[in-house]
Amino acid sequence: MPIHVKVLSKEDYSKWVDGKKKEMAAAADDPNKVWELAALVERGEKVYAANCSACHRANGKGAGPIKPVDGSPVVLDADKTKQIAVLLNGQNNGAMPAWKQLSDTEIAAVITYTKNSWSNKTGQLVQPAEVLAARK
Ligand code: HEC
Repeated sequence: MPIHVKVLSKEDYSKWVDGKKKEMAAAADDPNKVWELAALVERGEKVYAANCSACHRANGKGAGPIKPVDGSPVVLDADKTKQIAVLLNGQNNGAMPAWKQLSDTEIAAVITYTKNSWSNKTGQLVQPAEVLAARK
């Protein structure tokens, strides 16, 4: 039985690996994926630590003009579209920056994290598809 072996240069191989990694990351962030609460909170904790805690602090209490997210009426509101809008558009002329550069999954995860952390116990879950819908 003939065996065909494809020999790739080191460069071609790393290009191929890079491409595969991107494909996998995109699949992991499929905006139509339906998440369970615990997994979304876990993902959101990482997004919060990377993008939000510098201003809002790890304890969610903010400082000075940086409003707290712990106990925030926007975060606790049953109408989830309110916080989605804050994340996509920012608030108070950019004092709170817009985060539309994050993926739908990252925004859904970080909102879900804030809605279920510290004293916030809403049990609410925002799916990536809800963020995607709000972008239009
Ligand atoms: C550069 C500092 C900064 C960063 C980083 C930041 N925020 Fe904010 N955020 C603010 C400020 C300032 C406000 C208050 C705006 C105002 O005066 O209404 C705010 C307000 C908010 C509000 C509304 C609170 C309320 O009760 O009105 C939410 C929700 C929020 N931020 C979530 C986040 C999340 C989630 C992230 C990370 C993706 C984040 N913020 C990153 C500065 C920041």
